[in-house]
Amino acid sequence: MLFAKKTAFAITALAASVSASPAHQKATSTFSTSVISSTASATSSATSEVISLAQWATIGVTQYPNIFDPSAADANDVCSGYSLTGLKTTETGLYGRLSLLKECNVYGYDFDELSLFVEYQSAERLNIQIQPVDLTYVYILPDNLVSKPGVETLTPFVDSDLVFAYTASPFSFTIIRKSTGEILFSTAGNPLVYENQFIQFNTSLPKGHFITGLGESIHGFQQEPGVNKTLYANDVGDPIDANIYGVHPIYVDQRYGTNTTHGVYLRNSHAQEVLIREQSLTWRLLGGTLDIYFFTGPTVKDVITQYVSTIGLPNLIPYWSLGFHQCRWGYQTSDRLSEVIENFRKFDIPLETIWTDIDYMDSYKDFTTDPHRYPLEKFQAVIDALHANHQHYIPIVDAAIYHPSPLNKSDIYPVFDDGVAAEAFLKNPDGSLYIGAVWPGYTVYPDWLASGTQDWWTKAMVDWHKKVPFDGIWLDMNEVSSFCVGSCGSKNYTQNPVHPPFDVGGPATTFPLGFNITNSTDLPYYNSIWYTYTHTPSPSSTASTTSTSTTVSTDPMNTKAPGKGNINYPPYAINHQQGNHDLAVHAVSPNATHADGTVDYEVHSLWGYGITNATYHALLEVLPDKRPFIISRSTFPGSGRWGGHWGGDNSADWAYMYFSIPQALSFGLFGIPMFGVDVCGFNGNTDMELCNRWMQLGAFFPFYRNHNYLGAIDQEPYVWESVTEATRTAMAIRYEILPYYYTLMYEASKTGIPAMRALSWEFPYDKSLASVETQFLVGEAILVTPVLAPLVDYVKGVFPGVPDEVWYDYYTHEPVSAGPGENVTLSAPLGHINVHIRGGYIIPTQKPAYTTTETRKNDWGITVALDKVGSAQGTLYVDDGESVVVEDSLVVDFVATHGSLYTFPRGTYDVCQPLGSITVLGVDSRPSVVSLGETIISNFTYVNNTLSVGNLQSLTRAGAWATPLVFSWK
Ligand code: NOJ
Repeated sequence: MLFAKKTAFAITALAASVSASPAHQKATSTFSTSVISSTASATSSATSEVISLAQWATIGVTQYPNIFDPSAADANDVCSGYSLTGLKTTETGLYGRLSLLKECNVYGYDFDELSLFVEYQSAERLNIQIQPVDLTYVYILPDNLVSKPGVETLTPFVDSDLVFAYTASPFSFTIIRKSTGEILFSTAGNPLVYENQFIQFNTSLPKGHFITGLGESIHGFQQEPGVNKTLYANDVGDPIDANIYGVHPIYVDQRYGTNTTHGVYLRNSHAQEVLIREQSLTWRLLGGTLDIYFFTGPTVKDVITQYVSTIGLPNLIPYWSLGFHQCRWGYQTSDRLSEVIENFRKFDIPLETIWTDIDYMDSYKDFTTDPHRYPLEKFQAVIDALHANHQHYIPIVDAAIYHPSPLNKSDIYPVFDDGVAAEAFLKNPDGSLYIGAVWPGYTVYPDWLASGTQDWWTKAMVDWHKKVPFDGIWLDMNEVSSFCVGSCGSKNYTQNPVHPPFDVGGPATTFPLGFNITNSTDLPYYNSIWYTYTHTPSPSSTASTTSTSTTVSTDPMNTKAPGKGNINYPPYAINHQQGNHDLAVHAVSPNATHADGTVDYEVHSLWGYGITNATYHALLEVLPDKRPFIISRSTFPGSGRWGGHWGGDNSADWAYMYFSIPQALSFGLFGIPMFGVDVCGFNGNTDMELCNRWMQLGAFFPFYRNHNYLGAIDQEPYVWESVTEATRTAMAIRYEILPYYYTLMYEASKTGIPAMRALSWEFPYDKSLASVETQFLVGEAILVTPVLAPLVDYVKGVFPGVPDEVWYDYYTHEPVSAGPGENVTLSAPLGHINVHIRGGYIIPTQKPAYTTTETRKNDWGITVALDKVGSAQGTLYVDDGESVVVEDSLVVDFVATHGSLYTFPRGTYDVCQPLGSITVLGVDSRPSVVSLGETIISNFTYVNNTLSVGNLQSLTRAGAWATPLVFSWK
């Protein structure tokens, strides 16, 4: 029996609740609970009958994605492009006029005249802008919405390594790297196509290219030939190779021939598609302007810094957010929440933050608590107890705002009324409120471009925090999701609360690969639960369906239209990953209108970015002295300034654990370093083996959270004994290296370079490392080689840089014996994750404790990993871990050379904890004299070429970094 008793118990309870659901309520534990609570709630509707959104209202109009249509016109074949005239130079670049050579109108109407601007904005950044001369119907992405860099210095052309070359007719341009003569980007041979709903340009690429970036999608790290990337924010559960929650139109092109790297960013918020082929890249946009930035590199890390500084450097996270986070959809009562918190304590597994999903809400309304399941006083007591123990609490906040029913006097929801008064919601083109539907029923949506929305949102957060003192916010469903296609109809909210037309929350059916082998004794039990669930009587379809007078678009399908065009069904259909590719499925529709007349079509992928910005600024009011902490599902370039991201609805499957690494690396280069996925898997049931491996892997990601689906089995790390053990082991390392991790997060906030790194970023000249995505580095010094497959007790990994580099096993301190490029087989029994420290680096540590706060109060340690010549270096950054404006901080530089370690502190932040231990790896022979300053230390150990000293506290009573130290071994 590999599952502990606890799990079986939870499942039995769930099965009971499912089979006890009244027959007229669909057998879904979420909604059955919701309905029960809403009938009993003082503030909710007295409706006893459950009304569902009509199924048909969720089904879009089938679109045929252009990339799959063999008969679709190829714009490169049918268009002729433009000719350039009137080219003039300026102090920083060039400008000229582009005139259409021949009418083409392939997927929209051509613009006859365009303006071209070329600007050398800094030595590292070149900007090309092409936009119609007549901008009447063209959406210009405002500078104050999405950061738009300008000229930094009056850089004469000679300062840049990038050369802009062109051909006048048909117009094409080429970007050349001056120092190598290499063509980085060239549109030569293909016409520029510029229409009201379709813009296309192409670049040639060298054979064997190595491109990364372009997200968000679940895909390997490399964007290899054959990839078709659709960029359009989408509420969909992590399908592989499809558009999901966020949009990041940036790619990095690593050229191994010349060992140089450059980046290309397209600043545009319309739907996009990028097609990568063996020797070309085609970029298609459904509107707006061309605003392209080229970054010179020449290293990948340079490109990341250049790009992330352009879109906005990530915020510095609060220290506590590096602790472990536990969440699940299905903590249905505050008692259950307390039980989970207590279990963590009982099993001695560090728990920093507990999260609640929509279970805590009163009928799924934002800023409410269910009076029965989460009675306020009880809930407050849980949060107070957490705070007293230095732990934290984060609730989910959904994007859509419930619309109360005006027919029901007791359906009172002031957050809605205040929003209406503030004119804070999206409208239909006719000026009425845009009505969608999400968990609470019919809903409205904040308009982040309207002037009153921020104040309204801030007030809602401030008021709510007085009742529910949260420490951070989890933003969900912000692509932005709606279950109707098009507006649900302006009258239907009188039926509220309605509920979604699909089942949520039945026992998850799937188990990870290998489950039947490692859990063969449990299998019949789980099968029987599934049998019970599927045989629970369903409601009659008529009882739960109501008709809605939905505003279905009457736009003719995919035809051209002048002005802004046919925005609901554009002539070019992207391969949007929803049932039938309709842009409005599971989303607010393209014609939803903002206060300034902007339509969703133009800024669709910016909605999640807008709520993250607004929430960040609201949190600054909620807790003025504390750094805001936000995790958002939908992101856009610049989102990292305000929050981190989690990978969305992955599955409890080995493949998703694998994909979590490339997804994290991509978000690193997208300027969102605070990234993690649902550890152990969200959809489906996890199992002991997968959760064991994943809890260990997750411990090395910046954001470390276990979360899963309502109907799935419990997966807290204490559910299985082996997972408990494995988690404690990995967490001990994480908490021990917190000072190192926090220093990396600080560096990310200054340089954009993320903590979690690809091997190819640190070793950019070794092509064999280019697409490694089964291993990663934390900073420059720690290499993680996780097991990503079931039923194995070994793992293969490479050790970059050998023979010059030396890598030490984290646990044994043994140097690895590996040849250059060798795929080394490492022992990896269940519960063991391979971690190696790179010679030449010094890692500051603290003795791990239950929470990050307690860890910060413990003694310091220094781990020195010597390189082949006996040297090492490192840095530590310390501050109070929470101030928005950091007044006092401390930086400690470490250097080891010729048998001595020197520490150089500088700064005003006072650290009173003493230094407890120093460990030096790679010491050739047993030293005869070991000293700290003037004091000879006789009590040291020397094992495995590792020198260890402890009990140094009495020598550093004023604090480990109060003065410079010299530690020697001779
Ligand atoms: C979708 C989110 O991605 C998931 O994490 C959450 O559990 C559900 N919504 C329910 O709120």
